[in-house]
Formats: sequence, structure tokens, C-alpha cells
Amino acid sequence: MQGFVIEGVDRLQGEITVQGSKNAALPIIAGCLLVPGEVVLKSCPALSDVYSSMKILSCLGGRCRLLGDTLTVDCTALSNDHIPDRLMRLMRSSSLYLGACVGRMGRCTLSYPGGCELGARPIDLHLLALEKMGVCFKEEHGVIECTTPKGLHGAQISLSFPSVGATENVMLAAALAKGETVIYNSAREPEIIDLARFLRACGAKITGEGTSIVRISGVSRLSPCEYEIMSDRIVAATYLCAAALAGGELMLKNTGANELRPVIDTLCEAGCDIYSFSDRVYISRKRPLKAVGTVRTMPYPGFPTDAQPLITAVLSRAKGVSVVVENIFENRFRLNPELVRMGANIKTEGRIAVIEGTAALYGARVMASDLRAGAALAAAAVSAQGITELGNIEYIDRGYERLEASLTSIGAKIKRTSI
Ligand code: EPZ
Repeated sequence: MQGFVIEGVDRLQGEITVQGSKNAALPIIAGCLLVPGEVVLKSCPALSDVYSSMKILSCLGGRCRLLGDTLTVDCTALSNDHIPDRLMRLMRSSSLYLGACVGRMGRCTLSYPGGCELGARPIDLHLLALEKMGVCFKEEHGVIECTTPKGLHGAQISLSFPSVGATENVMLAAALAKGETVIYNSAREPEIIDLARFLRACGAKITGEGTSIVRISGVSRLSPCEYEIMSDRIVAATYLCAAALAGGELMLKNTGANELRPVIDTLCEAGCDIYSFSDRVYISRKRPLKAVGTVRTMPYPGFPTDAQPLITAVLSRAKGVSVVVENIFENRFRLNPELVRMGANIKTEGRIAVIEGTAALYGARVMASDLRAGAALAAAAVSAQGITELGNIEYIDRGYERLEASLTSIGAKIKRTSI
């Protein structure tokens, strides 16, 4: 199996330019389906989820080319409205092609995206919203046929939960629908704002992104544009947590502190010094880490669930008792038993983890269970005493561009090899 072999070090030092955001790129790439002509996306991260998105677009008749961090997509001539199950299962955000397909072609056939390591991850909110916009669903054995017999039209959509994916799916379907769509209790994540900015750059009429009420007035056609994808706030949080664990100092470039406020505040409470500038964030940790009380994950602008595994790893080394409450996903503590193998003292009960910080973590053979848990184990291993073998790193490759190269550049000892 492909894995990382990581030898612990006692500090990190240097600077990293943070990659483009996976969770902004994926909905924006789906949005290219709405646009006839050549769209150019800059700062597009080279990730397996991006490659999967390119496969889906190609299967529908789109043409994609990724050169360095520039992705060019041309969806002028679409030739298919059926996304095969094997592609739908490649990633969770394949569900976003529902809104984009019916938005552009008025119909599509796809299957449920795989549930994943974090829980069931249903798409009921997506389907309920799109049904209000005129989409009819016929489901058989996990395959959903979506049609719009009376055309796609605007609607008033109230989300029972500020779902990121459901908000994005509605925005993608509404951009070309007849009339106005209003999303109440919309997700407010920065990635939603990036999607809105991209669609507006293509001529869409969208207001309110970043607030809990988003309005989209459908237009007849969108035009190609060139767009720069925002930087990845969770990858930035990952490197901040790696530096907090190992000690030393790190400058992150292409990073906005505002989108990281809850993570930065928690790391400062744990004993780090963090300074932010226009497009960079500096961290140093010279004092021993200390417990921070309770961390609760919430929809944005609360503490991001994607950074929960990362802060759990940091708190496993923080003197005292910390509590982490996971309010977004029902199964997002699968990192914890792996950290316990490394010497952490964590009691996990449902959505609550009680962490008693230990003086050190120790190298062990551990397995990534999902993208962020894998990154958290890598961060923990960089500062552990001894050698760690980390398996299932294909999870990490879904969201991190060359993680080992970035960590090596700031002093970590990490090799990709078979383990
Ligand atoms: C997006 O997932 C992100 N993925 C996730 O990042 C992130 O953790 C999540 O938003 C929350 O911020 C991408 O953007 C590709 P949700 P998404 O819909 O859209 C429930 C990572 O590591 N729900 O806001 O799937 C759902 O089960 C990934 O980069 C329903 O019940 O998140 C979950 O409990 C992991 N019904 C909660 O809402 C629905 O129809 C949040 O889900 C939709 C969601």
C-alpha cells in the first residue's frame, strides 16, 4: 500500500504558499457545465478530486485540460446527460452535477454519490430544493432520472440546515432558470462566495452570497470567463496545526486570516503566537501547548468541521483537558483511535471527545480514514517521537497538493513509499 513514512522532528521553519481551494474548485468546475465556450480557471489545485471532476465533465461532452495550476474547460458541445455510477462514486461532490446538468440541459441521470467516512451524507435537501424548481425525480435502484417537464423555474427555498452542497446545487440550477430563486438559511462558507463570484463573472445575476439569504435571477445564457480560485483555508489550517504541534515558526502565503478566525483564535488560546497580514499568516510556537476548554464545530463562520481533526491532533499535545464537540457530521472522530495508537489520551463518546494532553506522541503504524483525518495524522507524526507509517494516503491526495513536498520544505522528514 502507498503510504508516508514520517520521522518526527522537534521544530518546523520556513514558508509555504497555500494551494487553491478544493472546496471552491469543485463547485466552480461543475459550474463550467453551464457555460458554452472556453473557461480558464487559475490556481486550480492538482488533486484527485479535480481529476475526477474532469472525468465527469468529459463524460458529458466537455473538454478539459489542466496545465500546472490552470484548468481550461470548454462545455460548448455537450453530448450526454448520464453520469455513470463509477464516476458518481469517485467523490462526494459529484452530487453538484445534478444542479449544473439540469441547469444547462434540463435533464440528467445520475446515481447517489457514495456516502463516505463521515456519515450517511444524504442529499435530501438538494432533492427537495430542486423539486421546488421544477425538477422531477424518478429513482430506481439508486439511479435517479431527473427531468424538467415544465422547465426549470425559480423558487423560494428554505434550507432546514445551511448545507454547503445544497446551497451550491441550487445556485448552479438557478443561474439559468426562469425567474428568481431565493435561498433562505443559505450556507455562508467562503467557498459559496467564490462560486457566486465565478458565476457572476460568467454573467449570472446573484446577490447576498456570504449571508443567509442568497438571491439568483436566472439569465438566458452565460459567457466564458477567466477566474482565479480562492486559496484553501483548510489546507492553511493544516499547516498552522502542524507548526503548532512541532513548534518553530512558519509563514503561510496566499492565505486570508479572516476565513480562519476560529482556528487562529483557538491556536492562540493554546499558546501559539499568530500574526496576519493582507495575504499571509505567520505562526510561531515557543511555549508548551495548553488546553483550550471546548471547541464546537458549527456552520461558517463557526469553527469549521474540516479543521476539527486537525485541532484534535493539536489538543492531544496540549497540557490539561480539552473537549471537542462535532456538530456537523455524525462520524467524524475516526481519527481519534489512530491518535491513541500514537500515545494520545482521548475518550470519544458520540459527538464528544475529551482530550487529556500528553507530553509527547510516539511513532506508530496508523491509517487515514478520510481526507482531514489523514492530514491530521501526518501533522501529528511530523512532531511525534520516532517513525510513523501512515497508510491510505490516497485520501490525503484528494485534497492536498504534494503534501510531502510542502512539509519537507519546512523541515519535516517525510517520504512517500510503499508500507
Ligand atoms: C461540504 O460538504 C464540504 N465538501 C465538506 O468538506 C465540509 O465538511 C462540509 O461542506 C461542511 O462544511 C465540499 O465542499 C466538496 P453539507 P457537504 O451539505 O456539502 C447534512 C472536506 O474534507 N446534510 O454542508 O456535503 C450532512 O449529512 C469535506 O473537504 C443532509 O442531511 O456538506 C452533514 O451532516 C468533508 N442532507 C451536514 O448536513 C443534505 O441534503 C453538512 O453537510 C445535505 C447535507
